[in-house]
Amino acid sequence: MKFFIDTANLNDIKEAYDLGVLDGVTTNPSLMAKEGIKGEENIRKHYKAICDIVDNNVSAEVISTDFDSMIKEGESLAQIDDKIVVKIPMIKDGVKAIKYLTQKGIRTNCTLIFSAGQALLAAKAGASYVSPFIGRLDDIGTDGLDLIEQIVGIYQNYGFETEVLAASIRHTQHLLQCAQIGADVATCPLKVITGLLNHPLTDKGLAQFLSDYKKSQEATEQAL
Ligand code: E4P
Repeated sequence: MKFFIDTANLNDIKEAYDLGVLDGVTTNPSLMAKEGIKGEENIRKHYKAICDIVDNNVSAEVISTDFDSMIKEGESLAQIDDKIVVKIPMIKDGVKAIKYLTQKGIRTNCTLIFSAGQALLAAKAGASYVSPFIGRLDDIGTDGLDLIEQIVGIYQNYGFETEVLAASIRHTQHLLQCAQIGADVATCPLKVITGLLNHPLTDKGLAQFLSDYKKSQEATEQAL
C-alpha cells in the first residue's frame, strides 16, 4: 500500500518523507489556500518545492472546469516536474480531459469521487488514480469504506490499472480499514500516518526495558 500525505505544508511533507514511508503528496486548492499560496507563479513554485522533497506522485489540481482550459492547465502543470500527477474533478469535461491527458502520457488523479459509477468512468477514461472521499461520505451518514470496497472489487473484476487512492481519511482506523479492503493508496494528514506509531504497551514496554538495563548496569558497577 502506498502512503501519500494530504497537505501542501512543506514541513509536514518533509517530516513524513524523513520517516521513510512516504510515496507521494496530494494537494487541492483548499489545502494550497490554507498555506497562503496565491497567484499562478507562487502556486507553480510551491508545487516545485513539494516535488523537490519527495520521490514521486505529487497531485496538482486544475481549477478550470471546461475541457479546453483543463487540458491546457493540465499540460502546463505537468511541465513543472515529471513527478506531477494532474488532479481532475469528476465532471463530464473532466472525464474527457483525463482521456486526452492519458493519451498524451500525462498521469491523472480523478478527484471528488463519491460513487462506484464515477470510479468506473474514470478508470475507463484511463485515470492513473481515483480519489474516493471517505470522510465526506461518512459526514453525510454514508459508509465511505463501502465505496472503497465496491471500487476495489470492480477494478479487480476487469483488471483496470487505475489505482484506488482512498482520500478524505480522518483517522488511523480509516487508514487500517482501507489497507484491509485493499486500497492501493491512502492519502492522509501527517497525524494519521504518525498515529500508526502509537501504542501504550510499546511505551510501557520500552520504559521497562530501559529501566531494567539501567538497574543491571548499576548492579554491575557496584559489584566492581
Ligand atoms: C484528496 O486528494 C483530498 O484533497 C482530500 O483527501 C480531501 O479531504 P477532506 O475531506 O478532509 O478535505
